Amino acid sequence: MDFTEHTILIVDDEKNTREGLRLSLEDEFDVYIAANIAEAEEVLKNESVDVMLTDLRLGAENGMDLITKALARAKPPVCILMTAYGSVDVAVEAMKKGAYDYVSKPLNIDELEIVIKRAIRSRKVEEENVALKAQVTERYGLENIIGRSRAMQPIFETIRQVAPTRATVLIEGESGTGKELVGKAIHHLSGRPKSKLVTVHCAALSEQLLESELFGHERGAFTGAMERRIGRFEEADGGTLFLDEIGEIDLNTQVKLLRAIGERTIERLGSNKPIKVDVRVVAATNKDLSGMVREGTFRDDLFFRLNVVSVMMPPLRDRKEDIVLLVDAFLREFTEENRKSPMELTTEAVQALLDYDWPGNVRELRTVIEHGVVMSNTPKIGVRHLPMFLRDDSLRDLRGGGSSTKAAPALPPEPVDLNLAKMEERLIHLALEKTGDNRTEAARLLGISRRTMQRKLKEMGLVEE
Ligand SMILES: Nc1ncnc2c1ncn2[C@@H]1O[C@H](COP(=O)(O)OP(=O)(O)OP(=O)(O)O)[C@@H](O)[C@H]1O
Ligand SMILES: [Mg+2]
Repeated sequence: MDFTEHTILIVDDEKNTREGLRLSLEDEFDVYIAANIAEAEEVLKNESVDVMLTDLRLGAENGMDLITKALARAKPPVCILMTAYGSVDVAVEAMKKGAYDYVSKPLNIDELEIVIKRAIRSRKVEEENVALKAQVTERYGLENIIGRSRAMQPIFETIRQVAPTRATVLIEGESGTGKELVGKAIHHLSGRPKSKLVTVHCAALSEQLLESELFGHERGAFTGAMERRIGRFEEADGGTLFLDEIGEIDLNTQVKLLRAIGERTIERLGSNKPIKVDVRVVAATNKDLSGMVREGTFRDDLFFRLNVVSVMMPPLRDRKEDIVLLVDAFLREFTEENRKSPMELTTEAVQALLDYDWPGNVRELRTVIEHGVVMSNTPKIGVRHLPMFLRDDSLRDLRGGGSSTKAAPALPPEPVDLNLAKMEERLIHLALEKTGDNRTEAARLLGISRRTMQRKLKEMGLVEE
């Protein structure tokens, strides 16, 4: 392991000690020094310090206070305390507070180096653990894509088949159908678990910004390019690049993208040095790309490059049999998130979900369930806890028989609108719908005379004078 890239901060109020330590350590590490807490904090703020070595006594200040401050930082250094010979109690105290180790003065440089190197290794292991944990808890694999319907089977099959290969995948489908989830699953099952998944939302960026986002730029490549910037292609080297909303990229960038994928080489803006990249590209769109090819707004050669394997996500309305499964998962997710005990939907509420068309697909369903979980104070989520657009039709509960397997309740549960006239109009519409526009029959259902019915229809403007 090469340690020269690791940054050490030495804090000691005695000039000779800190300069001496710097001299002995700077061949092996990147060393900074500070004489007091304020100076030390300045370094911690500006540098990514791996190990901080501080004396216990810093003039009037206390090294323990500095350790506490350092450990409270977002990316804390590993802290080592230097103490006078024999003050083991203080050292133990420091370790209880989170210091990694201690060394006694007078210092033995060889020993000190060993302690520092051990500290650096331990920090590396810790960082890797954090990264691994993050990967595991992220919702990634196939098991996170919910669906047992027929429509979903080919999706799972394709993901399994294509994930371990290098093939470029194009995921198409309406908004909210789970394209990004599929992209993540493909990466997760790619067999390069330590490699990176890098996502670019192509629609969010202007032409120039998108190019520099993808390919990076050299300093001064354009106005405002103050620093060199590594592009997402380079960042994803060895891993997966997920290009979301690929239908939004302009023709110019399409040319460059085609080259990057085809030749596996990129050039940063403002440079013509080709850089090799080993990147697997997964692209997603809710546009009809082949239509765009016909119109000339999307290059056919790029389309064919991307479309080596294609996945077409079914809209939720075509797989309503998955709604109940999805609802279960979202209920669990949001009751946990809101620290509520387990909840379920009433039969009427489930029916309302099944009767709806879901233009926003799974994302919309997820939001609706979150709404329900938040709005209900009991373990039951009823129609009245659903958002307005679902409730508005809540009279569907009156329809009885029909699509619901449950006997029709005598009254609409929780009418949304308490305005009597409006409610009456709705009931009349419903009665007409149920009887296939037979007014006599509808009047009978409503318990009113044919004449009253006629009058009301006139008022509603449904029949001519
Ligand atoms: N099959 C599924 N199982 C579980 N959750 C899903 C499923 N499909 C979608 N979701 C959830 O729905 C939301 C939207 O999914 P995602 O972002 O993948 O959709 P998208 O197709 O990329 O949408 P857009 O085109 O709007 O970007 C996410 O919260 C996702 O977790
Ligand atoms: Mg998306």
